[in-house]
Amino acid sequence: MIEQAQTNRYEEPIRTDQQGPHPDLVAVVKRHMDTTWRKPTPAHTAQVTSAALDWWQGQPSGPHILDSFCGTGMSTAHLAQQNPSAYVIGIDKSADRLSKHDTGLGHYRLMRAECEPFWRALVEARHRLDAHWLLYPNPWPKGQHLKRRIHGHPAFPLLALLGGTIELRSNWRIYVEEFAIACSVIGIDGQLEQLAVTEDWQPMTLFERKYAQRGQALWRFRGHNRH
Ligand SMILES: C[S@@+](CC[C@H](N)C(=O)[O-])C[C@H]1O[C@@H](n2cnc3c(N)ncnc32)[C@H](O)[C@@H]1O
Repeated sequence: MIEQAQTNRYEEPIRTDQQGPHPDLVAVVKRHMDTTWRKPTPAHTAQVTSAALDWWQGQPSGPHILDSFCGTGMSTAHLAQQNPSAYVIGIDKSADRLSKHDTGLGHYRLMRAECEPFWRALVEARHRLDAHWLLYPNPWPKGQHLKRRIHGHPAFPLLALLGGTIELRSNWRIYVEEFAIACSVIGIDGQLEQLAVTEDWQPMTLFERKYAQRGQALWRFRGHNRH
């Protein structure tokens, strides 16, 4: 009841034909767990993964953090600042977004690649993450587009093999609910909660800032791998 009351205080941000988690969600995730995702890795992504692994492996010891779908890299810089002993890589497929960020120094890097084959290449290299952030991925709000969401993609089960903690955020609660359900299927336990946007709160990303300025509720799933 309390949650419902809180939700109603905010503008409903997403136009969708879904009333709740997609009815096919669990079947889709299980099917992807039982099959191997075979789409070839683009040559550029293979090169980027190898550069990422070289960079991580060439650092002194410290946590390895991945910021998938990092956009302009604002969150990547934020994570590096908040975790001074960590080495942080932000990945996004948009050269345009990445070009808006001035990077190359310090203990984070931004790289252009498709996240899904990048995750697979990390798994194949047996590289484990300490933390994985996925902030405001494209929602694909129509029910028919379930398979374009992170948890509907054939690469989704790889997230459990990357290890570490995981945090996903969205302004669409159903997306986060679906992600939480899908995570429990692949072996990631966690909690869904509303972000507390207090006076001294700082947004981690441009999308987060925009949604918060519009008074929208922000949701997160925080989990950790069972294995
Ligand atoms: C809604 S934006 C969010 C960006 C950033 N996380 C933020 O909150 O400001 C989604 C981002 O995901 C990127 N993206 C979408 N699909 C991708 C994929 N398969 N691999 C890598 N990046 C992708 C887009 O280029 C875009 O920058």
